[in-house]
Amino acid sequence: MSRKYFQVQNLLLILSFLVLPVAIQSSPEAIETVLRRLDSKRAPASAQQSAAKGVLSRLLPSHVRSFDFTIVSRDSCGGVSCFVIKSHENSSRNGPEIIIEGTTAVELASGLHWYLKYWCGAHISWDKTGGTQVASVPVPGSLPRVKDGGVVIQRPIPWNYYQNVVTSSYSYVWWDWKRWEKEIDWMALQGINLPLAFTGQESIWQKVFMDLNITAKELDNFFGGPAFLAWARMGNLHGWGGPLSQNWLDQQLNLQKQILARMLELGMTPVLPSFSGNVPAALKRIYPSAQISRLGDWNTVDGNKTWCCTYLLDPSDPLFIAIGEAFILKQIEDYLLLHILADMLITEYGNVTDIYNCDTFNENIPPTDNVTYISSVGAAVYKAMSKGNKHAVWLMQGWLFYDKSSFWKRPQMQALLHSVPLGKMIVLDLFADVKPIWKTSSQFYGTPYIWCLLHNFGGNIEMYGILDSISSRPIEARTSENSSMVGVGMCMEGIEQNPIVYELMSEMSFRSESVNALEWTKTYSRRRYGKAVDEIEAAWNILYQTIYNCTDGIAGHNHDFIVKFPQWDPSASILLDTEKQVEMQMPLLLPQNRRFLSQEKISDLPKPHLWYSPEDVIEALRLFIDAGSKLSGSLTYRYDLIDLTRQVLSKHANQLFLDALAAYQRQDARNLDIHSQKFVQLIKDIDELLASDNNFLLGTWLESAKSLASNPTDRRQYEWNARTQVTMWYDNTELLQSKLHDYANKFWSGLLKDYYLPRASTYFYYLSRSLKENAEFKLEEWEREWISYSNTWQAGTELYPVKTQGEALDIARALYNKYFN
Ligand SMILES: *[C@@H]1O[C@H](CO)[C@@H](O)[C@H](O)[C@H]1NC(C)=O
Ligand SMILES: *[C@@H]1O[C@H](CO)[C@@H](O)[C@H](O)[C@H]1NC(C)=O
Ligand SMILES: *[C@@H]1O[C@H](CO)[C@@H](O)[C@H](O)[C@H]1NC(C)=O
Ligand SMILES: *[C@@H]1O[C@H](CO)[C@@H](O)[C@H](O)[C@H]1NC(C)=O
Ligand SMILES: *[C@@H]1O[C@H](CO)[C@@H](O)[C@H](O)[C@H]1NC(C)=O
Ligand SMILES: *[C@@H]1O[C@H](CO)[C@@H](O)[C@H](O)[C@H]1NC(C)=O
Ligand SMILES: *[C@@H]1O[C@H](CO)[C@@H](O)[C@H](O)[C@H]1NC(C)=O
Repeated sequence: MSRKYFQVQNLLLILSFLVLPVAIQSSPEAIETVLRRLDSKRAPASAQQSAAKGVLSRLLPSHVRSFDFTIVSRDSCGGVSCFVIKSHENSSRNGPEIIIEGTTAVELASGLHWYLKYWCGAHISWDKTGGTQVASVPVPGSLPRVKDGGVVIQRPIPWNYYQNVVTSSYSYVWWDWKRWEKEIDWMALQGINLPLAFTGQESIWQKVFMDLNITAKELDNFFGGPAFLAWARMGNLHGWGGPLSQNWLDQQLNLQKQILARMLELGMTPVLPSFSGNVPAALKRIYPSAQISRLGDWNTVDGNKTWCCTYLLDPSDPLFIAIGEAFILKQIEDYLLLHILADMLITEYGNVTDIYNCDTFNENIPPTDNVTYISSVGAAVYKAMSKGNKHAVWLMQGWLFYDKSSFWKRPQMQALLHSVPLGKMIVLDLFADVKPIWKTSSQFYGTPYIWCLLHNFGGNIEMYGILDSISSRPIEARTSENSSMVGVGMCMEGIEQNPIVYELMSEMSFRSESVNALEWTKTYSRRRYGKAVDEIEAAWNILYQTIYNCTDGIAGHNHDFIVKFPQWDPSASILLDTEKQVEMQMPLLLPQNRRFLSQEKISDLPKPHLWYSPEDVIEALRLFIDAGSKLSGSLTYRYDLIDLTRQVLSKHANQLFLDALAAYQRQDARNLDIHSQKFVQLIKDIDELLASDNNFLLGTWLESAKSLASNPTDRRQYEWNARTQVTMWYDNTELLQSKLHDYANKFWSGLLKDYYLPRASTYFYYLSRSLKENAEFKLEEWEREWISYSNTWQAGTELYPVKTQGEALDIARALYNKYFN
């Protein structure tokens, strides 16, 4: 780091000040005003410094005194956010050795992480993906020095955004404060400064609607159950899995206050929800003349209105603005009231952010493509927000421009994006890793946007990623002509999978140049396990070129037969030779539905996604197993070993499934039995494998749900919600499975053995009987039997282990030898 550097930057800053007034305001400049205001809302430097210390004390308690944290101004960083890492002049064993300066506590934590990674070879990932590797960090007193006076790392773009509106349901639903605290630490270490903060909003809605004389009872049918809140918030469904108990509402609001308080201490800018028009049916009772329309069906099996077809208040109705304003104010006011009543400053909401999420049009195509109309609706949404908070900035997911691109042509897009003043809207280019919108929309017509990685659907467990895209495309986007990019972000539907993808993506918020992903992967491997192991590095080299180089444009959504079993009658259509090749890509699996749900034609046999050569990846697995003796005891290694073994076996099972179907079609009963038995055996084997690592247990998910409950009724409800989300997901009839069945499928021990296995066995039983009796395959009978089994299981309460069983390496090695040697 050098003084000279700052002087040059200051000079540039002065120059740009001179130029600014005559230049047309570009989007990064429009955002500057927002940033200045957000800076003024931030916690005092001393609070942020202690918050950063808190992160350190939870991560590496032995080294609390080794680091010194200081908040510095953006001006001293050349006008942007940055962190500085330098060695203390007189470092000692009991005093600070490393000094970290940063513009907020997030930069302090990021600087700490950067130092631990690049000087100490440490690694941080979610506990569920192996956790942290800090064994390589030297003891206090011998931390590596940072040479040449230190380093300065600037953020090339101000924001690092985090979350999808459904992550709250797929991943966070059963979290307590302890788990949230860990997550917020993780966010800070990864440099995330713009996270969604959606927890507990039902409690705010309850207050807003009850102020309008809607009863609590009437709201029972409006909110979704705990595991389905995301979709009720969006107006996709109502009542499903509900009603919410007052315990739940109160507990979630308290949790939200803790979450917000911590985010604020760390200098983050939380994104709060705002009103999109989604209202309870009872609003019609109070306001009979309000412009309320009923939305169409969203994924129910039979259009039964018990769960579907929610009500939308038209943004042109003055009531829209009144409710929108009330909701914003209620979030602020909640703080004010409690603040006056009791001095609980740090645990309430307050006037804490200017950034609000709203996705009105994600739900429904506007009734007309008239640009005057679209523009007036956009203006109304913004007005509702800005009446509650005059500095409000509207953060919108840009998914609609991809998903409903036939409606959102240039004039319509422009009408929406330009319906609010420049700088008052930020768009998320949600799927920029695969289908960037910025490129085809002239940078969202100048509207500031955030380059996002979508990556995961339904919280599925599958190894998948595009490292080359992550390491270069955000840079390409930012440096492109007239770029309006103001951040990078991660919008996965579910977290706690593929840690390599999330670590690289997070780094991109501090990278001014593209990263050599091959080199990076090598150092990743060393850091992840705490040492260099040749076999493992060779394995990661393969994975980088195969699993983590998915360039076919198909999203990361697991459709392997074990977890997403097809409803398919093999006598109705003949498997084509090409269909036996699992390699064949399936554009149908691309998410086509606005809620990121893939739709498949029941008549077609869905094909799992395979974008690499399985043989190469089997070789990577062999290398992993060979390295086992050098890495025993490493939890990061154990997680990766199991995940890779699971990946390999699951793809292998896909082939066996097709072999079984082909045998059926040849009326070859013997081979049908052989292949189907192998398929079923693989399910058992994978279950046993997953049981050896506590990150892959159904029991953990169910116990975390139950432990949030404070009475037996809630407990039963939470467990049903937890079981239903990962299996049937939504409604069914006796004969029709939910359209969303297996959307959130999970490779978890317990689920394989007790859910996926009986489903497959029953199916094969019917196939086999059809051949033996020379009768047709009774698809309907199988479905009926299977659906009834599923519904019983969803309502069940049997216990599943939360502790590991068996030795992961032994099991993985045995399975490798059994199937591939
Ligand atoms: C380091 O130690 C030297 C000699 O004791 C002292 O002069 C100097 O002020 C110290 N520097 C800092 C930053 O404490
Ligand atoms: C709610 O009820 C109260 C008391 O009956 C009444 O004063 C108020 O006007 C009502 N509010 C609305 C929005 O109907
Ligand atoms: C709709 O679903 C509800 C709840 O499952 C059920 O009670 C009702 O009979 C269904 N209505 C129709 C028309 O099927
Ligand atoms: C919130 O803070 C802003 C300053 O950032 C102020 O202008 C506004 O009036 C405050 N709103 C409320 C409701 O307190
Ligand atoms: C769009 O709507 C506005 C206002 O209702 C109307 O004046 C205008 O003619 C419409 N434009 C088109 C192209 O229909
Ligand atoms: C960038 O903006 C300038 C000025 O508006 C315009 O002339 C130019 O065509 C733009 N470049 C691209 C690639 O859109
Ligand atoms: C990834 O795949 C693309 C397209 O097949 C290929 O051009 C590229 O070289 C691959 N990258 C790696 C790292 O293997």
